[in-house]
Amino acid sequence: MALWDKSSSGHADPSKLFEVKGKNVVITGGARGLGLHFAQCLAQFGANIAVIDLASKPSEAFLELQGKGGNHKYYQADVTDYDGLESTIDAIANDFGSINGCIPAAGIIRDRPFLEHSKSDIDSTLAVNLGMAATET
Ligand SMILES: NC(=O)c1ccc[n+]([C@@H]2O[C@H](COP(=O)([O-])OP(=O)(O)OC[C@H]3O[C@@H](n4cnc5c(N)ncnc54)[C@H](O)[C@@H]3O)[C@@H](O)[C@H]2O)c1
Repeated sequence: MALWDKSSSGHADPSKLFEVKGKNVVITGGARGLGLHFAQCLAQFGANIAVIDLASKPSEAFLELQGKGGNHKYYQADVTDYDGLESTIDAIANDFGSINGCIPAAGIIRDRPFLEHSKSDIDSTLAVNLGMAATET
């Protein structure tokens, strides 16, 4: 199945370049924080949102978004689990028909001075913060 709608990338009209109405956007880390904010903003302009997040259930704010119309769905998955992520992306492509864009907002931060970070701190941070960005492109 083709995951990306390549027909939307050949923009003849620059005024339509940033139009998101009716587009299907995957947002990782959308249960809260920046990802949730991106979801709310894009939905406001008519995008359909598929949130992927580690949290077992969506936030109240995301449930409110679903109640306001549009097609917004929540998928519980770990972006560092490649196989699980692949089947989640397949499920989203099936549910939405296509995927037009992705915002990899899932992230963690180990709040301590840089020189006190262990290798495992660095590995786990890069796996979450960059993993999906590398995987989906
Ligand atoms: N909030 C800011 O002002 C700010 C500024 C600069 C950079 N950042 C970075 O952006 C990223 C997101 O920030 P935030 O404030 O939204 O953080 P947040 O903690 O509020 O939200 C992160 C979301 O990512 C999800 N998540 C974490 N690990 C995951 C995984 N393995 N798989 C799927 N989902 C996972 C969490 O469940 C959570 O919903 C972080 O890396 C943060 O360091 C944030």
